[in-house]
Amino acid sequence: MKIPLFDLTRQYIKIRQEILTEIDKVISSGRVILGENVSLFEEEIANFVGVKHAIGVANGSDALFIALKALGIGEGDYVITTPYTFFATVSCITRNRAIPIFVDIDPVTYNIDLDKVEEVLTSHPNRDRIKAFIPVHLFGQTVNLERLEYIKQKYGIKILEDCAQSIGSTWTYSDGTVKRSGSIGDAAVFSFFPTKNLGAYGDGGMIVANDDEIAEFCRSFRVHGSKTKYVHDVVGINSRLDEIQAAVLRVKFRYLQEYTNKRREIAKEYQKLFEDTKSVKEMIVWPNVPDDNSHVFHQYVIRVKNGQRDVLREFLKEKGIGTSIYYPMGLHQQKCFAYLNIPKGSLPETERASKESLALPIFPELKIKEVEYIVLKILEYRGG
Ligand SMILES: Cc1ncc(COP(=O)(O)O)c(C=O)c1O
Repeated sequence: MKIPLFDLTRQYIKIRQEILTEIDKVISSGRVILGENVSLFEEEIANFVGVKHAIGVANGSDALFIALKALGIGEGDYVITTPYTFFATVSCITRNRAIPIFVDIDPVTYNIDLDKVEEVLTSHPNRDRIKAFIPVHLFGQTVNLERLEYIKQKYGIKILEDCAQSIGSTWTYSDGTVKRSGSIGDAAVFSFFPTKNLGAYGDGGMIVANDDEIAEFCRSFRVHGSKTKYVHDVVGINSRLDEIQAAVLRVKFRYLQEYTNKRREIAKEYQKLFEDTKSVKEMIVWPNVPDDNSHVFHQYVIRVKNGQRDVLREFLKEKGIGTSIYYPMGLHQQKCFAYLNIPKGSLPETERASKESLALPIFPELKIKEVEYIVLKILEYRGG
């Protein structure tokens, strides 16, 4: 059996005709830049997340860069974030000439540890310069939104939610209110990179915000900083969501809940199979599947103990199973951030996770018999 980590074509076969029809409509209309699909998709995403504004941009990385600038972050400001994330979460800080403060992760969820965030906010020597916090809802698992709102209020910092991996994920508050990731930050961003839960057939991204001024800044910054054509108050960039990609995304958006349900079913199947063979527990730790949408399983990541991760990965590769490592090192260990002088060992949970984590295949079209094969091979590896 050959099981890829991710397969775009299995989904395309099912929606091919709808997609081709919409692409044809865009090209036939002659309006291929910032047309009605972009506006309608922006409206759909704003309603879905539960915010006032949405601004389509070229990709999630630009969305982060522009949104952080819109929050007023610039030269010399400090921004708290996680070192265990995709590069763009942090490069948006340094590209805006600000300084990242890395806070270690919670070893169970892989999300930033909010106790440690509060420690930094109470004891950092340059506390006055900490202006913002970028939490990442990693692998599709929502960071505690109720606590994020509390932190935002108590410490008076801006929050930019990185929802690149978490579209549709929710958090249930202690009073029963349910909110979606992306709805509580001063701004939030989404990525429509093809492998994402809602993926385009190319690049795409979105910024969402409630505040009119923040939204207006982003809207003009994506077209070279111009509100009126050929008049520029600030120097922006060219970063628009493509009209064809918006048309594709509008088709796929109609299936998002179905896709999310499938991902959760697959995660549940992995969990059931691992639990049925508890002896595997000596070797791996698998994620818990909550009953609500607080985890939308962009990735299904297990931990492989006792230094066996890379050997298991090689074994699964030989058996035709694709896996990946998110992420092979903490961002504080990247050469380009060496100037921050963060000593090795200072973010131990991140460093441990980068040596133990292994992402198994998960995508809506993955078949249950393929999940069974993957688990069988993991058991075979450990001689079970
Ligand atoms: C957590 C996170 N942030 C930001 C991005 C950047 O998105 P994009 O690839 O669309 O630039 C990604 C995805 O690649 C991501 O996973």
